[in-house]
Order: sequence, then structure tokens, then C-alpha cells
Amino acid sequence: MKYFLDSAKIDEIREAYETFGIDGVTTNPNHIMNSGKPFLTVLGELADFVKEKDIEGWEKFPISVEINPHLDDADEMVEMGTKIAGMCKNFVIKIPCTEAGIAAARRLEQKGIRTNVTLVFTPSQAMLPAKNGSLFVSPFIGWKESAGESCEQYIQDIVDIYANYGYLGKTEIICAAVRTGKQIADCAVAGADIVTAGLQVFKDSFYHPYTDYGLAKFQAAWDKTITE
Ligand code: E4P
Repeated sequence: MKYFLDSAKIDEIREAYETFGIDGVTTNPNHIMNSGKPFLTVLGELADFVKEKDIEGWEKFPISVEINPHLDDADEMVEMGTKIAGMCKNFVIKIPCTEAGIAAARRLEQKGIRTNVTLVFTPSQAMLPAKNGSLFVSPFIGWKESAGESCEQYIQDIVDIYANYGYLGKTEIICAAVRTGKQIADCAVAGADIVTAGLQVFKDSFYHPYTDYGLAKFQAAWDKTITE
């Protein structure tokens, strides 16, 4: 399973790439706002980063960039998506799972511009993006679980539907808004392609108090042993 960092902060992206070897990045308007920088400045930093690391191209390191969320007309969505995609070969255009968004994603894919259909909350929403050849679909987990819903079956259903119709691996399933190590493991058990989460979620997911306990125990044993 691939790990994407859900962030628009270049220092976090650099750390996650250099230390954990993340496979890509997802951004959204909220993350861009949290970076404290203008939209185009962030896009420029991301484009410079992939040049510096020699990972140009969405095949090597996809970076999802969301279009203006106010747009509700497919022509305008395609126009903005085309502009953003022209700025960097790594940019994948993130589009909401609305009627206009589905139409725009389909047209962008027909033009060779890769898309990520986002704000997906049901298996039925995940079907048309795959049928239309989007590169990614982003079912959200954290928001549903915050609202009291369990997500294991929801992700499993999307994986099973994709397997039934040959979409698996063609449209990759990005489990989004992932908040916990348990959710990461649930996504992996279901066979999802990717999880995207914030840096701290990944750091917490490989922490366990018994690892610290065990390390302290082994250090004490080492210190009581002749080792040279
Ligand atoms: C996914 O691609 C979204 O960017 C993301 O996961 C949204 O959720 P969050 O910002 O609440 O984590």
C-alpha cells in the first residue's frame, strides 16, 4: 500500500519524503490555507521540489491539487484543471464528486490530464470515476468515523466493486482523511491502494509503548553484558 502525505507544507513534505519515502502528496484548499502561502506560491514550491528530487511526472510522484471549490460548471472546471496541470507534470487534478465534477474529470482524462475525484462518501459515488478512467478516487474515512460511522465495510465494498469490474489498479483508491494507525491497517486489510494522512498520523502509527519498553529492557541487558 502506498503512503501519501496530506499536506501543502513543503517542510512536512520534504521530511516525509526524506525519512519515510512517501509515494505522493494530496493537497486541498484547507491545506493550502494552512500553509499560510498564496495558492500559486505553494504550487511553485511543489514544482521546484519534484525537480530537486528528480521525481518529475505523476507516474513517479503524484501531487493532487484541487481546483477552485466554488466552480460548479464543467467547462470552468476543465479550464482551471487544464491550467493547473500545465504548471507541473506531477499535478493530478482534484475534483469534487458532483455531477459537474464527474463530467469535468471525464473530459480531463480524455485530454490526458489525470484526475482525483474527491469528497467521496459512498461506494456508489466511487463507481463513475472508475468507469470514466480517473487515476484516483478519494473515499474519506475520518469524517465518516467522526460522525459515528464505521468504515471497514465501506472501503471493502469499494475494493470489491473495483475487483468485480476490472477497475482495481487502474483507478487507485486513496483512503483519505485517515486519522489513526487502526484506520491505516483497516485500509490495508481491505486492499486499498493508498492511504493519505497528515505527518503526525503516520508518526503515531508506528509508535508503540512496548517498543520503548523493550528497548529500555534490552539496553539494560546490554549494559550488564561484556560485549567486547
Ligand atoms: C484528501 O485527499 C483530503 O485532502 C483530506 O484527507 C481531507 O481531510 P482532512 O483535511 O480533514 O484530513
